[in-house]
Parts: sequence; C-alpha cells; structure tokens
Amino acid sequence: MLTVKGLSFDYGRQSILKDIDLSIDAGEIVGLVAPNGTGKSTLLRNITGLLRPKRGQVTLLGNDSQSQRQVFLKHLFFLEDSQRLYEVLTPVELLSYVKAMWGGELSVDQVLKALRMERYHNKRISTFSLGMRQHVLLGAYLISGADLLLFDEPLNGLDPTSIELFTHIFSRLRDQGKSILMSSHQLGNVTTMAERVIFLKDGQVTSYQTAAIDLQAKYDELFGVPEELF
Ligand SMILES: Nc1ncnc2c1ncn2[C@@H]1O[C@H](COP(=O)(O)OP(=O)(O)O)[C@@H](O)[C@H]1O
Ligand SMILES: [Mg+2]
Repeated sequence: MLTVKGLSFDYGRQSILKDIDLSIDAGEIVGLVAPNGTGKSTLLRNITGLLRPKRGQVTLLGNDSQSQRQVFLKHLFFLEDSQRLYEVLTPVELLSYVKAMWGGELSVDQVLKALRMERYHNKRISTFSLGMRQHVLLGAYLISGADLLLFDEPLNGLDPTSIELFTHIFSRLRDQGKSILMSSHQLGNVTTMAERVIFLKDGQVTSYQTAAIDLQAKYDELFGVPEELF
C-alpha cells in the first residue's frame, strides 16, 4: 500500500530523518512511537509531501508522491491538528466538504451518528473544546474514505470514553481494509490498536509486531526509563 524508500530530511544542519525505509500493508494499523521532539510529525509531513524530502521516494498504491501528486493525495487523508480546523465551519459543513473532495461513501449523517456528534453538529468549530475538535477530526477521516489514514497523536487530550470510541472506529476502519499510521509519544496508547509498532530514534526506524515482543522493554531499552524526580 505505502512504500517509503531511502527517505532523508534535515532541518537546517539538524538531520531529522536518515535514509528511512518502511512500508504499510492494506488493512494494517501501525503505531509510530518516539518521545516528543524526535521527528514523528516531520516524518508524517515528509510522507505526505507537506515537507519535501531531501532524498528518497514515497509511493502509495504505486503512485509517486511527487510526480503523481494528485492521485497520490486522493488515496490518503492527513489532518495534522484539530486546533487548525476551518474555524468558521460547522461539523456538517466541514464533513460535506471532505466528502465532496475525497468522494467517500458514508453520509454526513452516518458519520455524525457514529461519532455521537448530533448535539453540536450545527455549531461553529471555533467554539469547540479539544475533545469535540478531535471528534470532528476523526469524522473527517471517516468520511474521506481514503485508503491510507495518517494520524498525528490522535488520542492526545481525549477522555477515556472518547479513547474507547476512537479504538472502536479504528478497528472498523481496519475491517474496511483501510491502512492506518498513527503517531504517539506514549507507547500504551497504540499497543491496544496497532498490530505493529515503528520506533523512531536518531532519525532511523525499527519495526516490531506488537504480539511478538515485550514492547515496553524495547521502548525502555531504546529511550531509557525516566529517572525518579525525587
Ligand atoms: N519548523 C522547524 N524548523 C526547525 N526545526 C524544527 C521545525 N519543526 C520541528 N523542528 C525540530 O525537528 C525535531 C523533530 O520535531 P517533530 O517532528 O515535531 O517531533 P515529534 O513530532 O516527534 O515531537 C525537533 O528537534 C524540532 O525541534
Ligand atoms: Mg509531533
């Protein structure tokens, strides 16, 4: 589905991504895990082409991210941050827009219902709490119908009930054959959903099947156990 080959990216003299290879299959949910400031967001932006890689190639269903940009973008959905949604729109307007652009099959009503957003579907997003915004964000992903969904820390700031709802929707999406790559700075957030975890360290990635190893031990080995403060 998604193939990344030899991807490198620098911010000025700081090398953030070094010759990264990775791939994601259809229907796979993969976690991208590393502490804050490592380069998770930078990697997602490079995969989508929001940042231009220094070197390397990204293809999605055989379409090159640069030379076949339009069809490449049609197959993926990435909304980086629920704090930067179109503030003047209502959820109904935003979801209608995404449906029109990406051509997903679900109706706006179905998505509002699935995410229990009926209470505020006609209010402007500018007045929304973080939790409400995260629901709108997930709604946009759902209605896009895109084959590859990239999420940057989707569970940040969510209460336990919403995390449960997100988990449920993620597994529904996987059942529909969608592929998901989701970043998190917390290992625990992704291990319940992802069958594979990619760790990012020193600009390079290593990938492990969730069921195959003790991921927490691997995390501690790679990133160290936090020291006692007192
Ligand atoms: N616009 C930028 N200009 C320069 N350096 C940046 C910029 N954005 C991020 N960085 C640096 O790149 C590194 C990786 O950042 P980021 O991808 O946001 O990490 P993460 O998402 O894992 O928290 C950090 O050291 C950060 O300071
Ligand atoms: Mg980030």
